[in-house]
Order: sequence, then structure tokens, then C-alpha cells
Amino acid sequence: MAAAPLFHLVDPYGIDRSLLDDLCALTTKVRLLAKSPDGARFLLGLLPDRRAMLYFVQPSTRTFLSFNNACHILGIRTSEIRDASTSSEVKGESFEDSIRTFSSYVDVIIMRTPEAGQAARAAALMNRIPRPVPIINAGSGRDHHPTQALLDIYTLERSFEDRGGIDGKVIGMMGDLRRGRTVRSLCHLMQNYRGVRLVFIAPPQFAMGDDVKAHLRAQGIPFVDDARLADVIGDLDALYVTRMQSEWDTAGETSQVNYADYSITPDNIGRLKSGAAIMHPLPRGPEIHPSCDDDPRAVYWRQERNGMWMRVAILLKIFQADRLVHEFDLDAVN
Ligand code: NCD
Repeated sequence: MAAAPLFHLVDPYGIDRSLLDDLCALTTKVRLLAKSPDGARFLLGLLPDRRAMLYFVQPSTRTFLSFNNACHILGIRTSEIRDASTSSEVKGESFEDSIRTFSSYVDVIIMRTPEAGQAARAAALMNRIPRPVPIINAGSGRDHHPTQALLDIYTLERSFEDRGGIDGKVIGMMGDLRRGRTVRSLCHLMQNYRGVRLVFIAPPQFAMGDDVKAHLRAQGIPFVDDARLADVIGDLDALYVTRMQSEWDTAGETSQVNYADYSITPDNIGRLKSGAAIMHPLPRGPEIHPSCDDDPRAVYWRQERNGMWMRVAILLKIFQADRLVHEFDLDAVN
């Protein structure tokens, strides 16, 4: 059965298994279609009458570029603001008035902002005005990054496609779990999978937030809160590594961290299971040594590219063009 339509995508809360499975299937179809010139032309013809605003007033490389290219793959034209100092916000225009203005010109607003809850505020505004456009949260402060969580789910599912998918897997999350929005959003999607166990490996000052842990308890998702990498490394089916989010430091907190305890290096990578997946939302710091990149378990570069295909799938879903892709006969272009 097809999942319900999607309008705003601001947090991971309402995302259910049928939507996840639908988006993953759509992502695979798009990825395969794009490999052939005919398939790529078909995708390009799907949404040429749509326009997107990329409002990214916090640094971004991958999320910006993958959304920008995802739009272009579908024929969607894009406008962008990448620095609040170039928008009328410097003249004192409110956030709400700025968002409403963007919505006058485009059909979707994709936004990355430094404050938690800003995408939700934009969506609430849209729900009050006569011509609302969908809001996609591409990272809101320290709280959520739902499209990253979706591409992470896709990467996990692909990594375990011959082993029953995500259900029943042991997933480690390591690094700055308190201030990293990617792991926070990903934890919220885990309720959709059966028998998953989470293992958190973080310096005490950057332990997973109590709000996320309360949610996991309420959903009956087992987790270990203060694991040491050396003790658990051999048990993990996936290890999701994150960087220390030093941009949020107020008193040099990151400098207190002993990276050796929170890193994958040539010395410990061999202790991971042979089929384990090492993931990272990137950019990385010292927590994954570059010489690990050639290890078959390192999937973070594939994860990065998956992000573009998943964002194509999200746009297709929001604009209800997903049916055309599902119906397209892949054999016709191969
Ligand atoms: C992440 C982010 O911005 O939260 N990057 C990304 O979107 N791929 C992770 C990070 O910055 O550490």
C-alpha cells in the first residue's frame, strides 16, 4: 500500500515504516534510472514547472549540494540565500516575513538554520497563510536533521540488504551525541524497526540527550548509554561515527576529549565484524583516519552520494510525482 502524502518535512516524529520503505524503494529506482541517458531525461522532465528556494544560513557542503543537484535532476529550478547578511533580515525583517516572502516565489523552501525549531516555525507559518508551500528542514540548530536521518536509513538498509535489513541489528553511535542533530533524528526513526539495539559511545559531557533517551524508553528500544568502543566494537553491525560539534563550545569543551577513545583507526578497524557498516554524516575530523576509507566496511562516501538520491525521492514524494517513477519500466532503459 502506498504511504500517505508528504507535505512538510520538519522533524522525524511522524515518519512511519510505510513512508520509510516507500522512500527507500523510490531512492533505489531513481538511482538506477539516473544511470542511463533515457532514465536521466525522464527524471529531468518530471518537475520542470517547480521552483525551490534553498535558504541555507548555516554552513553546509553536502546537504546544500545534494539538495541543489537533486532539484536539478528533476528539472526543478533553484534560488538560494546562503548568508543572512545578504537578505533583508539585516534590515530588520522578521524570520516569518522572510519565509513568507520566499513562499511567494517558489513551490518549496529547503532550509538550514542555526536555531532549533526554526523549520517548525516556518511550517507553522505556512499552515496559516493562503498559499502555503512545503518546508523541508535541512538541519535546524542542534535539534533535527530529518533528511540526513532518511539517507542514513537508506544506507543502513542497503548495507544489510542481504541480511534482513535494519530489523534486529546492533547499531553503535559514537562521538558528540548530545549536540549532533543527525544521531538525534536517526534515533527517532528506529522505532520503525523490530529488534534494533542501540549502543551509545560518547564522552560523558556529550552523552545522548535525555529527551532522546526518554523517547527510546517510551518506545521500548533498548540502548546502552555509556559504552566503551573497545568493549563493544566486535558486537556492532553498524557504527555511526560523528564529529565533535566544537562550533557549540562555550569553554573549549571539545579540547577535553581524548579522541583515541572515540575514533576508528587502522589499529581498531580490524575488530569490527566483517560485514559491519562504518557510517559518518561528514564532514569528519580526526575520528576516522583517512586510511580507513579503502576498507570495504567504510560506507560513508556511498552514504554521502545516497543523500542526493534520497533527496530526489523526498522531492518526488512531496510533489506527488513518485507514482510516475514507480510505474516507469526500468527494463525500457537498460
Ligand atoms: C551534519 C550536520 O550538518 O549536522 N552534516 C551534514 O549535514 N552532512 C553533521 C555535522 O556537521 O557534523
